[in-house]
Amino acid sequence: MILTPDKIQAILQEAAHFPRPSAAAIEALNIAQRGHGWISDELLKEVAELLGMSPADLDSVATFYNLIYRRPVGKRVIHYCNSVSCWMLGAEDNRRYLSQKLGIGLGETTGDGEYTLLPIVCLGACDKAPVLMVGDETHFNVDPAKLDDVLGETGAP
Ligand code: FES
Repeated sequence: MILTPDKIQAILQEAAHFPRPSAAAIEALNIAQRGHGWISDELLKEVAELLGMSPADLDSVATFYNLIYRRPVGKRVIHYCNSVSCWMLGAEDNRRYLSQKLGIGLGETTGDGEYTLLPIVCLGACDKAPVLMVGDETHFNVDPAKLDDVLGETGAP
């Protein structure tokens, strides 16, 4: 068993808010992911069992939702928005700068396990494009000149 008793309790409490426990799938996955960093197959099975779902059905939720990770990721995940407004205003310049600075491509993690770089769809702040997230922090109007500060704020080397 990977899930701790307090996480099992939290997932069951969340599921109790809905007529069907499967409606709590995203929050349950978030709870399970906290502390583990990602959702392994074993963890997925445990959460699915608590929600009365098949692992395959829960996996389809997990893989659809951008902030649930089905593979190991770095301590901080950089999600850069590559939807149209951000793309038009320089998201690709930011992506190139980050790839060069960190030495990783999309979907990759730095050798020290610190950062993973992933694209994400529109974050709903198109008027402040380009937008990216580093962990839970969202950064607006980002350009390459600001990226060192953005990473510095979150403890990058
Ligand atoms: S397109 Fe990037 S925030 Fe909307």
